[in-house]
Amino acid sequence: MTASRSWAVVTGASDGIGRAVAWELARQGYDLVLVARREATLLEIATEIAQTHGRACQVIALDLGIGGTSEELAARTSGLDVSLIVAAAGFGTSGAFVEIPIADELAMVDVNCRAVVELVHAFTPRFVAQRSGGFVLLSSLVAFQGVPRAATYAATKAFIQTFAEGLRHELAPHGIDVLAVAPGPVRSGFAARARMTMTMAQTPADVATVIGKAVRRRTRGTVRPGFLSKFLEASLALLPRFGRVRMMRRVMAGMTPPPA
Ligand SMILES: NC(=O)c1ccc[n+]([C@@H]2O[C@H](COP(=O)([O-])OP(=O)(O)OC[C@H]3O[C@@H](n4cnc5c(N)ncnc54)[C@H](OP(=O)(O)O)[C@@H]3O)[C@@H](O)[C@H]2O)c1
Repeated sequence: MTASRSWAVVTGASDGIGRAVAWELARQGYDLVLVARREATLLEIATEIAQTHGRACQVIALDLGIGGTSEELAARTSGLDVSLIVAAAGFGTSGAFVEIPIADELAMVDVNCRAVVELVHAFTPRFVAQRSGGFVLLSSLVAFQGVPRAATYAATKAFIQTFAEGLRHELAPHGIDVLAVAPGPVRSGFAARARMTMTMAQTPADVATVIGKAVRRRTRGTVRPGFLSKFLEASLALLPRFGRVRMMRRVMAGMTPPPA
């Protein structure tokens, strides 16, 4: 095992983008704390990463939808030299708002928003004290305007985008980098749970490569992985906000289940 670059905590590491980022960071020499609910899956991934890259890999199985678990995560990693947090745990809902159970919407707000604020708040004092650290927060292409048929999901991502933009300036003087990552469609476990049909999707590895490069370069601000994300950014930017919402209504009509 070569010397560690220090530890990275990756939430949502049992699947999709989080899992791919864990592999990417191990390649860069980070030791890892892998977090999600599926403990057996995390243990398998940890074993494979440790065998392939010779990195230390700890598993902490937590349901981040439950208030206080991010603080528990900070407490359970207090003995480790953590320098990077990647908050990739999250999920989406879609379809007619009136038909989505309110429990699903609120659970999504808890995981996508509340847990991320809690996580960043729990680790910021450590990063301030060590005068360095990084947060990578998962925003989305949908974060930049309202999105009919995924209204709550898009609002959770707008929350993260705005949160990251504000924190970036506030924490930079402390040597802390805050990065928002806004991908377009990604082929992962996300689509099935969100009941979305994805076309022109990137792979989680594509997104992880972009994140890995941004972490290496200590990029602050927002990165938009992939052609579609950049193309839509450019074309939507020309429209007034209400026009962007209309455009997204058309896009989502083809991606989400029709009303019952
Ligand atoms: N896929 C896309 O098209 C896309 C596009 C833009 C942005 N994003 C964002 O990227 C992030 C990752 O999405 P993905 O595509 O990687 O989805 P994914 O493949 O479904 O992975 C989601 C991860 O989040 C974890 N998770 C979900 N609920 C959790 C909970 N209550 N507690 C702890 N962990 C939980 C899951 O693990 P367990 O089930 O084991 O708990 C899993 O590891 C999300 O924030 C998503 O909004 C995705």
